[in-house]
Amino acid sequence: MRHKLAVGNWKMNGSTSALSEIDALIPLLPDTPPHVVICPPAPLLFRASEAVHGTAITIGAQDCHMQASGAYTGDISAAMIADTGATHVIVGHSERRAAHEESNSDVRAKAAQAWSAGLKTIICIGESDEDRAADNTLDIIAGQLSGSLSDGATGANTVIAYEPIWAIGTGKVPSLDQIIEVHDFIRARLIDRFGDAIADVIPLLYGGSVKPDNAETIFRAKNVDGALVGGASLKASDFAPIISALARI
Ligand code: PGA
Repeated sequence: MRHKLAVGNWKMNGSTSALSEIDALIPLLPDTPPHVVICPPAPLLFRASEAVHGTAITIGAQDCHMQASGAYTGDISAAMIADTGATHVIVGHSERRAAHEESNSDVRAKAAQAWSAGLKTIICIGESDEDRAADNTLDIIAGQLSGSLSDGATGANTVIAYEPIWAIGTGKVPSLDQIIEVHDFIRARLIDRFGDAIADVIPLLYGGSVKPDNAETIFRAKNVDGALVGGASLKASDFAPIISALARI
């Protein structure tokens, strides 16, 4: 069975005082919560891992380097992330693909490092507004999926997040039909490549302007197993209702 997952991506927001939002979230979790992953900025990983100990929440990083170690000033390896107690790492977020020119093969290499460090990867894919306007969405998704995912992907090490770039941080959300079309397409491509047994257990998240008031509708869509949430994960009072909506499905 696929597990349901709510992932909060804090991006470059929050310092030590933001850990109080994790403390505030814990008592707001539903009785049978889905798995929750919070991805704070790297300097908070250790403290955040301590804060969630013994709860349904685990901690993830927002990126890792594609090499195991070496002369890469300012970078952070997957093993260092695992050492903080984190369980997950986001790779290939569109903000990194755009601002750091990360290619599909970079994303694949990062995922390989993450897996060897024992981390689960949340691999992000998604089309731009130009791609969608040109009716290229499924081609872009197919290319990113095959290029970013290596043959070692399983339900135990991989989560895929579909995040249309034009929906991130904009308040614009695709129609339910558009979300379903892309999620069904991703599932079908995974089945073609990995077979039913593996493809069936890789969770597919939707991301891009998920808020308390639209989460439940999105979660009811077939092949949507949860969400990657940016802005609405920063405050416990916004993230908690999204987690509860997922628990109800
Ligand atoms: P948003 O960000 O929820 O603020 O749109 C989502 C993301 O970038 O992961």
